[in-house]
Amino acid sequence: MKTNGQAAVLNLFNISKSFGNIQALDRVSLEVFSGQVLALVGDNGAGKSTLIKILSGVYAADAGEISIRGQVFKHLTPARAMQSGITTVYQDLSLVNGRDAVSNVFLGKEHRKAGYFVDRRRMERETRHLLDRLHINIPSLKVPVGSLSGGQRQALAVARAIHQGGKIIVLDEPTAAMGIKESQQVMALISNLREQGYAVVLVSHHLPQVFALADRLCIMRHGSLVADLPTGSTNLEEVVALMTGIKAGLPTEVRKVAGN
Ligand SMILES: Nc1ncnc2c1ncn2[C@@H]1O[C@H](COP(=O)(O)OP(=O)(O)OP(=O)(O)O)[C@@H](O)[C@H]1O
Ligand SMILES: [Mg+2]
Repeated sequence: MKTNGQAAVLNLFNISKSFGNIQALDRVSLEVFSGQVLALVGDNGAGKSTLIKILSGVYAADAGEISIRGQVFKHLTPARAMQSGITTVYQDLSLVNGRDAVSNVFLGKEHRKAGYFVDRRRMERETRHLLDRLHINIPSLKVPVGSLSGGQRQALAVARAIHQGGKIIVLDEPTAAMGIKESQQVMALISNLREQGYAVVLVSHHLPQVFALADRLCIMRHGSLVADLPTGSTNLEEVVALMTGIKAGLPTEVRKVAGN
């Protein structure tokens, strides 16, 4: 499948994964496109995080394949996922709170002068360019990131993902536990990523936000992908019905009696 004449940058084919006798994913197939925000939605336990962990090489699928720009993998490792441009920003953000923005962006990949001295000035300049390009406003690059707001830290984690070569940015609940203003900043950053041609996979329970941001809604239930819809062609009621398996519009009593 193509959208806007573009081939998918990432394809999942029939990905399955069990934990003991729990089938966390059951033959999930999905396509991810550059310049598009794909929202992965579903109730607790639907399989969203498991799918993301397979994409980022944390878990190996029991069956199925992943193709990244045409290169097919049975199993990704975290290193291979990253080399292929998939970077995942988890909720804990994995920032080092005691260090500043520049150190976090360059963590483990510092520029060095004469192969030895850390080239702080160059790293600062590059961090500033990166943040400007992504329209991320961080008041000081020199304060410990632990003192920044949740929205600023999230933005910084995304900037680092891009600095590491991320082209497909996977975000697991980026605005959970954030206030309205911070969430809006993160949402603006996500639209900006789309405009700059990145592919974004967004896991979120916040449906109004998902409707405001996503181009496509991929809805999971009990480990299966039950729908893949352009956002404009659906509505909140239909999405909730697909997520829960409960048909919209029926009174609660009827749903309980029907047992579905
Ligand atoms: N490491 C694991 N060991 C055993 N079972 C697991 C493991 N990880 C996930 N599961 C199970 O697999 C299913 C899918 O879990 P997953 O975390 O992918 O759901 P989710 O959609 O991310 O849910 P949430 O919205 O609560 O984050 C659940 O039944 C969960 O209990
Ligand atoms: Mg999860």
